[in-house]
Amino acid sequence: MQVLPWPPAGWWRKTVSENDSVLRVEDLRVHFQGKKLVKAVDGVSLEIKRGEVISVVGESGSGKTTLGRTLVGLTRPTSGRILLDGKEIRIRDRKSLKGLWRRAQMIFQDPYSTFNPLCSVYDAIAIPVRKFDIADSDAEVRRIVEESLEKVGLNPAEMRGKYPNQLSGGQRQRASIARALVISPEIIIADEPVSMLDVSIRAGILDVLKNLNEKFGVTIIFITHDLAVADYISDSIAVMYRGKVVELAPSDALIEAPMHPYTELLLRSAPRLKGVRRWSETQDLMLKEVPSEFPGCAFYPRCPISREGCTFTEPDLADVGRSHLAACFVRQDEAKKTGNR
Ligand SMILES: Nc1ncnc2c1ncn2[C@@H]1O[C@H](COP(=O)(O)OP(=O)(O)O)[C@@H](O)[C@H]1O
Ligand SMILES: [Mg+2]
Repeated sequence: MQVLPWPPAGWWRKTVSENDSVLRVEDLRVHFQGKKLVKAVDGVSLEIKRGEVISVVGESGSGKTTLGRTLVGLTRPTSGRILLDGKEIRIRDRKSLKGLWRRAQMIFQDPYSTFNPLCSVYDAIAIPVRKFDIADSDAEVRRIVEESLEKVGLNPAEMRGKYPNQLSGGQRQRASIARALVISPEIIIADEPVSMLDVSIRAGILDVLKNLNEKFGVTIIFITHDLAVADYISDSIAVMYRGKVVELAPSDALIEAPMHPYTELLLRSAPRLKGVRRWSETQDLMLKEVPSEFPGCAFYPRCPISREGCTFTEPDLADVGRSHLAACFVRQDEAKKTGNR
């Protein structure tokens, strides 16, 4: 049996580097064919840097969960490429996918979905340790499980013999983070991990994730519909709309000066945030009817700054200045006129 050192060398060091991409996706598409074709993810290209926290935000149905699941190999993409450390994952090859699972783990919105109710919390967290042959004895398995519990602020002695239903909501989500953490993944994808929890315990869970990033250098992809949470936790934010990333920028820049009209709309519906710019239009854009297939920019039917050319072709993400990338023809033209500054 192969015994991996625990924790692996270098795992605990925060090593954010400008050019060091750990995960990269190129033109990723995930289409579901039911009665109707659903383009859940439709041409996403992203580069995730080692040691960064990146949030993916967008309203319900924009494809965040599907993107997250695809990035850890739980959903198979229709097309596109996923590269881990510059090496392409062969998405049709189980062994290659297993390599991705070993290094990228997902935390789900509902911690109950992580646990089998008939399996103790200890045993559940031990499963990945055994599956990936990380320990060479039962004592070693136990030590690793306990270390993982401690990392998320749970008392191992208190958790011993407990079943998932005997834990509080916050403890259960911490335990599900411990389960993701137990194989010391380099990447954690957290899908709305606090949205089902009581407001009073959310900050504690966010801090567990923040701490994993700062102390252990774990790269975190944080999925949320809440820009305030994204602002709190992340270095950069990607905004998704209808399966596409429409804006990507450092968190501060995105919150202070959103460039894509959709991001502005999201910010306006998050009243807790400072520096919110107001639309001159006051009607509720979110309620405007949107045709399901539309040539040109998908945001056009809702967009208050649109112009005729927006309906011809789809905009790609491009530099619009102030370290923002945005998929908006109007903003891209403005940036060109002002020399990108
Ligand atoms: N397994 C699936 N089969 C068919 N359609 C799906 C499946 N998973 C997600 N979808 C559809 O894909 C779209 C994006 O869903 P999802 O990724 O869950 O978005 P979000 O997490 O942003 O709410 C939705 O229209 C959803 O109904
Ligand atoms: Mg979701």
